[in-house]
Parts: sequence; C-alpha cells; structure tokens
Amino acid sequence: MKGLWSNIMQALGQKNARPKAPIHNEEERAGLRRASRFNAQLMDFLRPQVKAGITTLELDRIAYEYTIDHGHTPACLGYKGYPNTICTSVNEVVCHGIPNKTPLREGDIVNLDLTTIVDGWHGDSSETFLIEPVAEDARKLVQVAFDCLYAGIDAIHPYGKLTEIGRAIERHARVRGYSVVQEYQGHGLGREFHQEPGVPHFVPKLNPSTVVIEPGMCFTVEPMINTGTWRTMLDKYDKWTVRTMDLSLSAQFEHTILVTESGPEILTMTEHGPKQGHQF
Ligand code: MF3
Ligand code: CO
Ligand code: CO
Repeated sequence: MKGLWSNIMQALGQKNARPKAPIHNEEERAGLRRASRFNAQLMDFLRPQVKAGITTLELDRIAYEYTIDHGHTPACLGYKGYPNTICTSVNEVVCHGIPNKTPLREGDIVNLDLTTIVDGWHGDSSETFLIEPVAEDARKLVQVAFDCLYAGIDAIHPYGKLTEIGRAIERHARVRGYSVVQEYQGHGLGREFHQEPGVPHFVPKLNPSTVVIEPGMCFTVEPMINTGTWRTMLDKYDKWTVRTMDLSLSAQFEHTILVTESGPEILTMTEHGPKQGHQF
C-alpha cells in the first residue's frame, strides 16, 4: 500500500512538474563559454557600426556574414520561422523587431539582440545603443535598463532563489518610475535556445517560481524596461514585432550567465562592451 500511495503521489507531482533546468558539467561549461564568447565578439564587431544612416537590415547582413565567415550558425534565422539573423528593436519596439530598410536616425535608441550557435551551444546577448544626440528621457531609460540587468545579475547566488532576480529588477525600475515587461522573460539556454529555467524580470503574483539556482545552470537575464505601461502588443501583420501598448520607449540589455560554485559568471562579455557602472 505504501508503495502504491507513493506511486500515486509521484504521478501527481509529475503532472505539474516542469522539466528541470539542465546542470552543465565542466566540459559542457567550456562549450557554453565558447559560444557566448563568440556572440560577444560579434557584438564588439557590430558596436562601432551602429550609427545614424545605417539600416538595421545592413547590420543584419553584417552579423550574418561575420557569423558564417567564422563557421558558426545564426540561431534566430529560421527559428520558429523568424526571417533574420538578429533582432533590431527601435524606440517603442520592446523586442523581436525585424531588420528593415529604414536608416537609424539621431535620437533613436536601438536594441541589437544576437544569438549564435557554436558547436551546438547557444550564446545570447543584447545591447541598446543611443544614436546620439538623444533626448534625456531616452538616455535615462537606457541607463535604468542597463542597471536593471546588473541588479538582476547581482541577485544570483548559488542555492539562492530564482525569484530574487525579478525582485531586484522590479525594485530598481519601479522606484525610478519605470515599468518592467512581463510577457517576455529570460530563459535557460545551452544545447537548446530556450529551455528551463524561465527567468521572470518581476515577481509574479500567481505561482512564483520555486526554482533554486544551482551551479551548472545557464540562463539569460534580459529585462525589458518601459517609460510608460508594461503592457505590450504583438504586430498583427508580421507576428514578431513587440511594441509597448502606449508606444512609449522601451530598452533592454541581455547577458548569458553561467552559475558557478562561486557565483554568476557573465559569459557574453568582452573587454570592449559597457561594464557594470557604465554611464550612458
Ligand atoms: N534573442 C531573443 C532572446 O533573447 C530571442 C529571439 S527569437 C527570434 O530570447 F526568433 F525572434 F529571433
Ligand atoms: Co536575446
Ligand atoms: Co534571450
């Protein structure tokens, strides 16, 4: 009887249980590091080219060629039917903006979101760029989004709770008068582009995650921060572009994080990108 009961309980538990986040061993961590390193180098290559006058489609082609020339695979291209190599999200576009032929203009803010597959491993990062000169409200938003990323990363502790990431991000944004997008989250990645754990950038009122952060987990932190409402809408024609509901500005930064025994290791960083404490 005891056996039967525990079998039933186990079956009930499994019905509601989510698949567990993969824990990567040393060899797998080396694969993750290489993929993210390349992704960060791609960002380094693009960064000086993000200027007024260039189109997001030109940036997309540059990213495609750099990736292919190095023998790697653009992860977004063809992913669930996505048509391009990178996502380019301008001004009120929250995420998943499709590159197009409109030149970037002074005053724009544009997020480039890059994901590459290297030897089967994924690296994912994004950065928001200011096409100077920009208005002070745009600069402030980008600053808060950048600082939110680091508030989230600083809340990552081995054997701590995953919900602390969202709590720290939400606090940082809220007290400064900004809102946090809820429909799109960070995600585990590795052999898969999107897997467990889901990483909310806020604390859900319903069913907050009970995940404990463990060494060997790899996931992104990628808060999307808005000047107006947190609510978003999906473009009904292309079914990809996500905009703020009130068309207020949105900014985002993303890093791929490996949790090690001694804390979070930011994998998608090189010496050239903006570092914690950077002032825009
Ligand atoms: N890079 C995005 C993320 O951070 C995902 C883009 S999926 C695509 O998760 F299909 F739009 F490319
Ligand atoms: Co991304
Ligand atoms: Co991501």
